Amino acid sequence: MASRVIPVDPFDLVIFGGTGDLARRKILPGLFRRYCAGQMPAEARIIGAARSDMSNTEYRRLIGEALEEFGAADGKNQKDVTEFLQRIEYIAIDAMGKSGWKALAKALRKNVVHAFNFSVGPALFGPLAERLHENGIADTQSRIVVEKPFGHDLASAKELNATLAQYFDERQIYRIDHYLGKETVQNLMAVRFGNILFEPLWNAQYIDHVQITVAETVGVGGRGEYYDKSGAMRDMVQNHLMQLLCLTAMEPPAKFDPNAVRDEKLKVIRALRPVANGDLVRGQYSAGSDTPSYAEEAENPSSTTESFIAMKIDIENWRWNGTPFYLRTGKRMRARLSEIVVRFKEPPHSIFDEDAGSNANELTIRLQPNEGMDMMVTIKEPGPGGMRLVQVPLDMTFADVLGSDGSDVPDAYERLIMDVIRGNQTLFMRGDEVEAAWAWTDPIIEGWESRGDKPNLYEPGTAGPEEALMLMHKDGRRWRDLKP
Ligand code: BG6
Repeated sequence: MASRVIPVDPFDLVIFGGTGDLARRKILPGLFRRYCAGQMPAEARIIGAARSDMSNTEYRRLIGEALEEFGAADGKNQKDVTEFLQRIEYIAIDAMGKSGWKALAKALRKNVVHAFNFSVGPALFGPLAERLHENGIADTQSRIVVEKPFGHDLASAKELNATLAQYFDERQIYRIDHYLGKETVQNLMAVRFGNILFEPLWNAQYIDHVQITVAETVGVGGRGEYYDKSGAMRDMVQNHLMQLLCLTAMEPPAKFDPNAVRDEKLKVIRALRPVANGDLVRGQYSAGSDTPSYAEEAENPSSTTESFIAMKIDIENWRWNGTPFYLRTGKRMRARLSEIVVRFKEPPHSIFDEDAGSNANELTIRLQPNEGMDMMVTIKEPGPGGMRLVQVPLDMTFADVLGSDGSDVPDAYERLIMDVIRGNQTLFMRGDEVEAAWAWTDPIIEGWESRGDKPNLYEPGTAGPEEALMLMHKDGRRWRDLKP
């Protein structure tokens, strides 16, 4: 089924950090794919900005190479590549100084959407906002796009919000959490609120627990310096897993509107009970037969940073009281897999013999790979020999049922950038939401830091440390298998 493409309004998109990894790997290939899909109008223009001096031709060459390196250009779409590159310009700008800003002001056209993507380190977010303002480049209709990490803790996030608020209204600030741009993450809202089937059962009366897993097989690689100061809690839980939890747990918003959705997510974060020490497991991967240990990759032999974290979270509200959410995420695990598992309770009374088997339903929403949903339902095991129950999946792999291999589905960045141009903030984090997430995260981190806790080592290619399995076992539950 081909997707419907509605072109966005004409725009000038300025990418600060235009020669950097994120711009080359994600943003520009994403824009190119939207161009090929017919979503970029003829008047759309992209301006790369960075410190080094470079001509338009040199920058276009750099981006052309990036399109090839990151799979957007495949040799068959050379005409598209050439046309797309014609829309790209380059301006050398000193983010902290004065040079380049006049040229940028001159280059921007009137009567088109102006979006400024801060694809730079967080230390430059404030200075860039200030320069845009003092050079008269941004107006009340401009938008800024701020990449992760948004702060390191509550204090720094508040400071950053306050700095940006000096120059921009909240409606102009687009804080990226790329998980929100993922197709299946949005589908979670469609499934929950587009069907009558699930919502009546979506509460503590019928749901035993929820599991959210984001497992990766890669290690920290060349990002050790950033990651060692961050760890899985700051890098993944405070943002991506928190968003998944919110979308699973939130009340139905009155409409699919940015503030209605974000109000409901915020209420969930504010209802999270502080996590008890015994409900938390931190891990760090050891060396494998052909892979270095975390400490080696991070070049910090005495590092106590976690590359894995699992926790049990209680939500203190009417809907979820008594139904825990178990979260886990880690690097160098057995499989690359992100999923949400909703485990329902058993029917209140079984009419079958005790040895007939268990009959609890389980809904799994697979975010990646192999996007889809499956629902375990109980049926009679076919054949003679009395009533024996088995659980079988009602499996819906989206690529199969929608008759698409997924190649026409925009990736997270493509969708999010187009939403910026459309002026739709639904899939972006609001300032108060980010602060609430840090307010919940900070005491947990302070707890293990003040106790001097060390993470448990786990072997690469596993499901994390043994202790993480125990976290559920002690409640009489188990994680769903992490199958490669
Ligand atoms: C990023 C984290 O935000 O998300 C990375 O900084 C992580 O550490 C990545 O690898 C995971 O994203 P995805 O889309 O590959 O699941």
